[in-house]
Amino acid sequence: MPGNIRSPPVTLIKTMNESKPKEIGEVAGCLVDKEREFLLDYASRLYTGGGEIVDLGCFLGSSTYALAAGLDDNSQVTDKDKRIHAYDRFEWNPWMDRPAERYTLARTYQENECFADEFERQMGDKIRFIKTVKGDLTKLTWQSEKAIEYLFIDSMKDWQLCNCIIPGYYPAMTPGVSYLHHQDFVFFHTYWIHLTMYRMRDYFESVDHNFMGPSKVFRYLKQLPNELMNARYSIDQFSVDEINAAFEYSIDVVRPRGHSQIVGAKILALLEKQEAELANELLERAATTHPDLTENPVFQKSVSNLQNKKRQVA
Ligand SMILES: C[S@@+](CC[C@H](N)C(=O)[O-])C[C@H]1O[C@@H](n2cnc3c(N)ncnc32)[C@H](O)[C@@H]1O
Repeated sequence: MPGNIRSPPVTLIKTMNESKPKEIGEVAGCLVDKEREFLLDYASRLYTGGGEIVDLGCFLGSSTYALAAGLDDNSQVTDKDKRIHAYDRFEWNPWMDRPAERYTLARTYQENECFADEFERQMGDKIRFIKTVKGDLTKLTWQSEKAIEYLFIDSMKDWQLCNCIIPGYYPAMTPGVSYLHHQDFVFFHTYWIHLTMYRMRDYFESVDHNFMGPSKVFRYLKQLPNELMNARYSIDQFSVDEINAAFEYSIDVVRPRGHSQIVGAKILALLEKQEAELANELLERAATTHPDLTENPVFQKSVSNLQNKKRQVA
């Protein structure tokens, strides 16, 4: 069971430091500046040290470094060594070439090559705050008795990872104290995050933070029942009514700039649900209201993949 944790400050994370410390922006990775600033701000100001910080899917470390820089500045936490647990397979994939090319890496990597050395190099002297965990998140779970005070997730990329990360890490969070940061919430691809967060909506509170790309942060309010943490989620378990309600909830908790991504996630969820007519209606409306979504070739590819999958099943 999660251990003794002091109560957190009551202020919600709302303010952002407009002047970005230069160094966090220089670390290789996928996060936008606002996300890095938010993590730095949280770790320096709100992290109590009563539990651990967990970064699931750290890649080259833009998330990890921002957390570590914040922890470095945190005056209320004295025991800082290895408090940030950074998980990744650390196996290079061709899609990584693109985000990596904006930064200076010691060398290039071939497909499947381990890049943990570059992650640790990017961390520089902040590595003392970080425990690097190499492995597949479909096989790993949180193995510590310690609580997770901040759970940053940038790896819930499919239903399988969703069904491994929820039971593997959520039980270690502490109600009233922990935060859950979904880096892929404001992103059309990862609709399972919306559906599962809707199921768990009574146990979390949306943190009212500024728009920061795909990220959405929740505060964990009260103990999640085991049935919700240990369920095997799939699209079959969500009715059309629940899908509608889930995405209304997501729209409510996300700033308008992110709404097109939420609409996209709903279209993909309906397509996986084989509700082609409903998905097409929404797609037609979105062509007028959210052309940034419907003209995005990556979204178009996701739509046609799901449409083709349906045809193969039929
Ligand atoms: C979008 S990147 C994360 C970006 C990172 N948070 C940053 O700050 O730049 C997603 C990461 O998740 C990792 N990942 C995806 N599936 C995984 C799995 N099954 N096990 C472990 N790591 C995984 C990938 O290796 C990749 O580094």
